[in-house]
Amino acid sequence: MNQPVVAASGITHSFGSGANRSTVLHDISLEVRAGEVLMLMGPSGSGKTTLLNIIGCLLQPTEGTVRLHGQAVHQLNIEKLAALRLQHFGFVFQSHNLFPVLTATENVMVALDLLGVKRSIAHERARELLALVGLGHRLDNYPAQLSIGQKQRVAIARALAADPPILMADEPTASLDSETGLKAIEFFRMLAHHQHRAVVIVTHDPRIFHFADRVVHIEDGRIGKHEIVTHEPASLTMGDA
Ligand SMILES: Nc1ncnc2c1ncn2[C@@H]1O[C@H](COP(=O)(O)OP(=O)(O)O)[C@@H](O)[C@H]1O
Ligand SMILES: [Mg+2]
Repeated sequence: MNQPVVAASGITHSFGSGANRSTVLHDISLEVRAGEVLMLMGPSGSGKTTLLNIIGCLLQPTEGTVRLHGQAVHQLNIEKLAALRLQHFGFVFQSHNLFPVLTATENVMVALDLLGVKRSIAHERARELLALVGLGHRLDNYPAQLSIGQKQRVAIARALAADPPILMADEPTASLDSETGLKAIEFFRMLAHHQHRAVVIVTHDPRIFHFADRVVHIEDGRIGKHEIVTHEPASLTMGDA
């Protein structure tokens, strides 16, 4: 049996306090497994990003437990959580968060610097990762010189820098055209199916949910429909855009 890499149980989360307190997640339980693409689908404001942040150990839930490879992490202090995040998770944020004054290669190297990797090795690894995402010809370009799809691929390369077993992406296709979006999803599927990573994608994009292995619907902070996508999508071979 494929053991969950992350198991969240009874997650409830509230923001604010007193009269301004609002509960945005209600008793959510969810498992993330290696080798599969899990999509969290739901309308804007339904709590997807909050849930992603909690299962990615970026945010401590108000109530409930989060286990990473069986180890309870919901009560660890900030330093311990940061160390675990660096080791286990890669994040592709909605805004990509690239440093505008750094080249594509340098943006990827930043993540390796944090891990204390020697500069020459980090440089080589950054080049390899950028080649993997199809940006071998853009190594020395600055973010402003790249298209949105290319910036996103730099963000993906950076998320993979520390070779994390879990990759999380928040609305990765929201700013992409259909073809570029599908290419990104195809890449996420490769990371799950061929490299046995756990891939969690938050989205409200109806164009992509067919490409998940499992879809969990979130509505008003609660889990709704939970479906397993069993068919193999037919149209996943695309040329370079
Ligand atoms: N830091 C925060 N402080 C207060 N409210 C927040 C915060 N982050 C999110 N929320 C609220 O929580 C709800 C869920 O937000 P979010 O998780 O971002 O949803 P989604 O990603 O599905 O759009 C929304 O009502 C949002 O306004
Ligand atoms: Mg969101």
